[in-house]
Amino acid sequence: MATLRRAGDPALVSDPATIAEVLAGLGVILETLPVPTDGQTLALLAAPELDDAEQARLLEGLDGVFQRLQTEKGYQERDLVVLYPGHPQLETLNTRFHRIHTHDDEEVRYIVDGEGVFGFVLPDDSQVELTVVAGDYIHVPSHVEHWFRLNQRQRIKAVRYFSARGGWTPLYTDRPLQEFAHP
Ligand SMILES: [Fe+2]
Repeated sequence: MATLRRAGDPALVSDPATIAEVLAGLGVILETLPVPTDGQTLALLAAPELDDAEQARLLEGLDGVFQRLQTEKGYQERDLVVLYPGHPQLETLNTRFHRIHTHDDEEVRYIVDGEGVFGFVLPDDSQVELTVVAGDYIHVPSHVEHWFRLNQRQRIKAVRYFSARGGWTPLYTDRPLQEFAHP
C-alpha cells in the first residue's frame, strides 16, 4: 500500500482516500493489483538480481496483468526494471530521474517487488513524495512534473508498460526539489 509525505512535513499519510485525492489533482492513477503468487513468480521475485532469461520468465508470469491492460488501455509493450544494491547503473539512474521532469508520453509502472518513490509537483506548487510498493500500479499522465528515486532499500522490480516507444525521455523543468524527510 502506497504512502505519501508532503515536503517539509515528516508525517506519513497512509489513508488511501487522502492519497487518491492528492493524486487526482494531477490526473495520476494509483491502483492495487495483487502480484501473482505462483511458485515460479515468487521465487523470481525473491531474488534481488535476475538474468535475461529469468526476467523473461517473470514477465511471462505477469502477463495476465499485461493482457488486461492491453485490452483496457491499449499498451503494446512492456519490459522489466530490476534494481538492487550494487547495481552498476544506480548512480546514473538516480542522477537522471531524481530531478523534476516531464515526459511527452505517460509513465506507467507496476511495482512487483521492493519499493520506489515518485515525487510530484502539485497545482499549488507544493511537492509530495509517494512511496510505492509491490502491488502498486501507477499511471503518470504526460506533461505532469514528477521525479523518481529509490529509497534506502535500493531495491525494486517494476514492469513498465508502453503505448509507444521513445516518448518518455526526461524533459527537465529546472524547478528545485523541496526538502523531504527521507525514509
Ligand atoms: Fe519520469
